[in-house]
Amino acid sequence: MNIRVFRTPSDAGIYAASILERVVTSKERPVLGLATGGTVIPLYEAFVNLVRCGLDVSHVTTLNLDEYIGLAPDHPQSYRAFMNEHLFSKVGIPAESTHLPNGIASDLAAECERYNAVIRKNPIDIQILGIGVNGHIGFNEPSHTLITGTHVVNLSAETIKMNARFFQNEEEVPRQAITMGVQSILQAKQIILLAFGEHKAEIIREALKDGIRTDVPASILQLHKDVTVILDEQSASHLDL
Ligand code: GLP
Repeated sequence: MNIRVFRTPSDAGIYAASILERVVTSKERPVLGLATGGTVIPLYEAFVNLVRCGLDVSHVTTLNLDEYIGLAPDHPQSYRAFMNEHLFSKVGIPAESTHLPNGIASDLAAECERYNAVIRKNPIDIQILGIGVNGHIGFNEPSHTLITGTHVVNLSAETIKMNARFFQNEEEVPRQAITMGVQSILQAKQIILLAFGEHKAEIIREALKDGIRTDVPASILQLHKDVTVILDEQSASHLDL
């Protein structure tokens, strides 16, 4: 694993955006696997700047990791709304080339199959990941088993609590989500994992330096041959670098 430590999330975001740019300019039909959360905002800001300075993204396809169940795409806390706000509305990726699971599908099993087919049709060149304080990637929560494909997940009490900061209160946080599975994530040709802040330091150490554990889903990234971990000094502070 290639671990890079930056002084600030903003410096780290610029570096991550430059990796994305390389993928976008080197492929005929680049497919970007995207994530949501506070961590990826500096990356999207830097990427939007690159687009404003001339990077063409009209040929890009995007696939997001996950979506809350029960939130319509136009709900302000849906991940579709997050992506519209921080990226899609600011760059020229055709709307039909941006994919997220549909959190209000009436048949959730069929929706998972539909999303698996979208992933199969659009093999991911680079997957962006954040990490939950409990080690989740996408919404693959700590568990005895990790599920390979797209699936419905019950969010852990810890995740509901952490994500409550984006809602009016904890009660409003959806209890379930649809998430890409770990095999789909591992099938990306390249992976970037970002984490910032002291509160991520211990889980970053566990994910990267302990063995592979299903109760730390991010540790499965140790199996991938092209992972770049992009940290700030705080999130790297428990690593022996
Ligand atoms: C969310 C998302 C993850 C994200 C994580 C960290 O619940 N499903 O994809 O990586 O939590 O969020 P943050 O970056 O806000 O700390």
